[in-house]
Amino acid sequence: MKEVLEALRDDNINMISICGMGGIGKTTMAKEVAKRAKDDELFDEVVMAVVSQNQDLRKIQGQIADLLHLKLEGETELGRANELYSRLMRSKSVLVILDDVWEALNLEDIGIPYGGQHKRCKILLTSRSEEACNQMRSQIFPIKVLSEEEAWNLFREMAGDCVDTLGLHPIAKEVAKECGALPVAIVTVARALENKTKDEWIAALEQLKKSIPKNIPGLHSKVYSSIEFSYSYLKSDEAKSCFLLCCLFPEDFDIPIEYLVRYGVGRRLFAKIDNVAEARSRVHAMVNDLKRSFLLLDSKNKECVKMHDVVRDVAISIAEEHGFLVRCDDKMEEWPEKDTYEIYVAISLFSREMKKHPNGLECSKLEHLQLSCCKDTQQMLPANMFQGMKELKVLSMRGMSFPSLPQSIQVLQNLRTLHLEYCGLEDVSAIGALGKLEMLSFLGSEIKELPREIGNLGHLKLLDLSECSTLQRIPYGLLSSLSRLEEFYMSRSRCEIGNLRATLRELTQALLN
Ligand SMILES: Nc1ncnc2c1ncn2[C@@H]1O[C@H](COP(=O)(O)OP(=O)(O)OP(=O)(O)O)[C@@H](O)[C@H]1O
Ligand SMILES: [Mg+2]
Repeated sequence: MKEVLEALRDDNINMISICGMGGIGKTTMAKEVAKRAKDDELFDEVVMAVVSQNQDLRKIQGQIADLLHLKLEGETELGRANELYSRLMRSKSVLVILDDVWEALNLEDIGIPYGGQHKRCKILLTSRSEEACNQMRSQIFPIKVLSEEEAWNLFREMAGDCVDTLGLHPIAKEVAKECGALPVAIVTVARALENKTKDEWIAALEQLKKSIPKNIPGLHSKVYSSIEFSYSYLKSDEAKSCFLLCCLFPEDFDIPIEYLVRYGVGRRLFAKIDNVAEARSRVHAMVNDLKRSFLLLDSKNKECVKMHDVVRDVAISIAEEHGFLVRCDDKMEEWPEKDTYEIYVAISLFSREMKKHPNGLECSKLEHLQLSCCKDTQQMLPANMFQGMKELKVLSMRGMSFPSLPQSIQVLQNLRTLHLEYCGLEDVSAIGALGKLEMLSFLGSEIKELPREIGNLGHLKLLDLSECSTLQRIPYGLLSSLSRLEEFYMSRSRCEIGNLRATLRELTQALLN
């Protein structure tokens, strides 16, 4: 830390990198550097952006601009880069932190001045890859694991004073040792054992010693064992399922807690739930427990939660054993090639380039399918897309355009949660045949009229029409025919006023009844 700060003061050094394996504390150190740089007024401005594996230049530009209170007007990446560049050139001195770099970045493409262009614009990178940082010609500072004393202090802070009691002290010391002085391992293991009895500590030590580490590139095997251990110590199967749902989203993603609620209800992951509100309270409580265990993190958005990328790597590895397939790769144009899809229970594919979906793929165990694409990429949805997915309980499609739903949607007679979000939709009347549907969301989709057939959904509990800016009307009588409806959302939607009045009257009447 001292060396990094010294390098930042050195006029001859323009770019530096903090390098080391996953979970060793690079981001934590970079944040601390940012704080110190501000406190000591080393720079006029300090900004930080997360790069992550799927380099998204627009997103990086956006993050930096937000922190500079700059509104980027440009449509193209180049236009935005020029705006950002001009703004940074006007700054007297600025520190730009780019966290979690995987491949060499072209700073010019983002709009960051470097080298001789602006002597007082310094760049700090964090990366697992020294090679990438070398390619960018930056000075490298390898980060080391904690000293024995630091490791023990952190362990004690997380596990509580109990580790100092006579009987527990030697066992706790051994458990701490199993964490290999790696911060992420220490915090997850210590928190899992907070307030546990001596017998539980002894059992935990055995379990950690026996654990068969999995080799995940870029991760120390102790990191894997520790996070897996922390997962195995979760209080309930519900909390475990809720945790695994979070790895269905891309790295560094703000996961809406509401999705965990709707997916969980659809999958019947929560026992003894009478209504959606109860499920929501349960999920919020579980999310808080998971945060306390360091398995989830706070997001800037209070409706969302994040998963640390190291935790996510381990979560995906655990989830694979439960039949999960997760791929988030913007270059993916079609579904990954597999010998069979019959083993999968949950599939999540994120790609802005996705063009083709399979026709009649046999997925007899599949309960959960999440597809996130880009509306600007022309897509083909074959008629028999869902034919082999009769067990599907949760279907989420985002950023897709289709004039009508694939004919085979009718086979989804077990479907309980359907999200068609930020989609371009025309005729969706086929939804009326999905008799078990409980949750239906058209969030942000372009849809003109809600089909009358939705009134047939006798089990529907939640209807979300938020941000449906093209919605003109809701057919009269539709809402009152949904006798089990518990929640109805239409924030930031544009409905014709006469129709809105009628809708409100209908809802009031339904409530009175
Ligand atoms: N010095 C420290 N003291 C206390 N906790 C720490 C320290 N360093 C890291 N941690 C904790 O360890 C976890 C992992 O740290 P961090 O996110 O900084 O790792 P990283 O090296 O950036 O990982 P990745 O390669 O995945 O980006 C975090 O939960 C953080 O709170
Ligand atoms: Mg990091």
